[in-house]
Amino acid sequence: ENTPRTPVLWMHGLECTCCSESFIRSGNPLAKDVILSMISLDYDDTLMASAGFQAEACMEEAIAKYKGNYILAVEGNPPLNEDGMFCITGGKPFIEKLRHAAKHAKHVIAWGACASWGCVQAARPNPTRATPIHKVLDNPVIKVPGCPPIAEVMTGVITYMLTFGHPPELDRQGRPKMFYGQRNHDKCYRRAHFDAGEFVESWDDQGAREGYCLYKMGCKGPTTYNACSTIRWNGDTSWPVHSGHGCFGCSENGFWDKGSFYDRL
Ligand code: SF4
Ligand code: SF4
Ligand code: F3S
Repeated sequence: ENTPRTPVLWMHGLECTCCSESFIRSGNPLAKDVILSMISLDYDDTLMASAGFQAEACMEEAIAKYKGNYILAVEGNPPLNEDGMFCITGGKPFIEKLRHAAKHAKHVIAWGACASWGCVQAARPNPTRATPIHKVLDNPVIKVPGCPPIAEVMTGVITYMLTFGHPPELDRQGRPKMFYGQRNHDKCYRRAHFDAGEFVESWDDQGAREGYCLYKMGCKGPTTYNACSTIRWNGDTSWPVHSGHGCFGCSENGFWDKGSFYDRL
């Protein structure tokens, strides 16, 4: 009870904020418990009450006070074209703010596809040169990809780090193995239909009504490492395949450019 809460600085670059939208819906643990009892969220330019110069002063104060002891959580990425002018926060290019905060961080987390891989803003021809954060920082980066990541995966990663004092085991791409160690296809409830060669052939055919496999409708479950088929979304309510749409691989590197979401095989 007397252990000080771990300071977290959460910053936003080029992104859509749905990673935050996902996070605040975590049911287990509840996002409010993470924010009010587990971490000390000392800076988050989306959630904090202060704004403008006051908010930036909070960030500088936290960096100075907790040097080497805070977690930097990054949502979004820095665009490098035109000296970073495509994303200005606190009056500076985001790349400057990111490097400044990362310099003294104990751990750096990349939330979502934007920070981990670049996401839609980095899709060809990537006019702003949006760049994933591991390419601009010297720190090791814990990647928690997805567009957005599952809420309980986000809070699960933080809970693990607070409980054990170190990040969870990562795979070669920097993703926690505990959540990204399997493909959605491995635990998909439609997998028996895949194995039996029973496929949906058009969106409204009898196979679609019977819940057959969506592989021929472009499902990327066989090449997508994520926990959607096990943890699922919205408190274990559903996930894309359960709603009748194939996985389009939103946690995989370059999924926008790989495309073919609706290609028939
Ligand atoms: Fe939004 Fe996706 Fe980027 Fe998260 S990864 S901020 S959900 S675009
Ligand atoms: Fe695999 Fe997708 Fe078919 Fe599920 S619906 S078994 S994830 S191909
Ligand atoms: Fe994304 Fe596929 Fe899960 S599209 S949300 S990784 S089912």
